[in-house]
Amino acid sequence: MKSLFVILSDSFYFKQRGLTEIPTSVFAHINNNVAIAMSDTVTEVVEDNFMKTFKALKRKSPPADLGSVINVDDSKWTSMDKVKQIYPQTVTSTEHEGMIPSSEWSMYELTSVPGAILIRNPFRDKLRKYMIARCYSMYPRLPNVTNHIDSKMSYEDVWQDFCSDAPSDMSVDYIKKLRWVTLGYHYDWTKKIYVKENKSEFPQDLSQLTQFIVHAVLGEEIKFKAEASIVNYYHADSTLSGHTDHSEFDLTAPLISISFGRTCVFMIGGQSKAQVPEALFLRDGDVFIMSRNARMSYHAVPRILPNDSSYLNYTPAFPGDVHTSNIPTDRENCHLKRTYDEKATPCKRIKLESEKFSADLISSLEDADSWSLFRRLLSGGRLNINVRQVFEPGKGPEDYIWPEKDNYIAI
Ligand code: OGA
Ligand code: MN
Repeated sequence: MKSLFVILSDSFYFKQRGLTEIPTSVFAHINNNVAIAMSDTVTEVVEDNFMKTFKALKRKSPPADLGSVINVDDSKWTSMDKVKQIYPQTVTSTEHEGMIPSSEWSMYELTSVPGAILIRNPFRDKLRKYMIARCYSMYPRLPNVTNHIDSKMSYEDVWQDFCSDAPSDMSVDYIKKLRWVTLGYHYDWTKKIYVKENKSEFPQDLSQLTQFIVHAVLGEEIKFKAEASIVNYYHADSTLSGHTDHSEFDLTAPLISISFGRTCVFMIGGQSKAQVPEALFLRDGDVFIMSRNARMSYHAVPRILPNDSSYLNYTPAFPGDVHTSNIPTDRENCHLKRTYDEKATPCKRIKLESEKFSADLISSLEDADSWSLFRRLLSGGRLNINVRQVFEPGKGPEDYIWPEKDNYIAI
């Protein structure tokens, strides 16, 4: 595949994002494995190791060898130096009712990509089910934007029909073909920019949840604000090719990615495709944080795994809906854990039945029939909720010069 991107007025585009050092005005991807970057001063040939790994892991026949994919559920990997177990930066003054206590989260940082952090499913089942139900039943509704942008049907009607005893082919097809939803600032996929006027209110449940995660893992002094999100609906054959997320004005705030459903192989490398990437499994309920160095790393999803146990120790997404967090056993010596236990003042708790969560939806999911609809929807695929902060702390839309659509043309 050949592609050529020409960035006009490159200094404008990059300066708005604080990237003044990028001298290159033309990038030409000559073939799959070699990228040549040209400018007045630089001519550099680099090997595209990211693409090489992506192709190897994506291969269907003969089937890709997944033996090199980091599997933190297997002690062989955690005893190697590819990942190190990490502990919360601070003891949170708040706990989240929908999650196991943050002092018990199993967290791993990739040695080769500092700031890339995996949290093995910290969700309690109630919140996990709630988030899945929100992704299918609520987030695709107006004013949020979906890939069915040109459709005349409202998602509310589609969903109502889909939940009826005899859903029409049209609504079944509509939901099957749902690929993405954007929340908050809506991403313009063709121009790769956010547009000032194109935004809707960010869902409070997701905003509160991601802020809690950032506080628990990176420290409460970090003022993370969820301002944009892409919810990806993956199917058995879906892949997501290598990219960096660089359209936000703040490129230092962490990216928070939450996965539900089938396990995928996730790849993450460096800020250049020359760096050999690592691959790891992301499973049902896992949270992945791209902070610090990892914020601008190339990443991709080369493969969604089948919903059975045909790959090593991988846990099926729905083994009778059993919560599958693996709590580490070596925490006795962890100072943070002791501090937490001895805390005199009781924690504030984020309650699920607050106005920020839809109490009706939560209680309806206790009914096995209503959950089984979502369970069936997700059993064939994978959901990924990717949450971003768009602006620098304390700043808002008025503090920036927004790119004009004519300044960035992809051909
Ligand atoms: C994205 C993304 C990763 C995933 O949506 O930008 O990188 O795990 N998603 O699906
Ligand atoms: Mn991404």
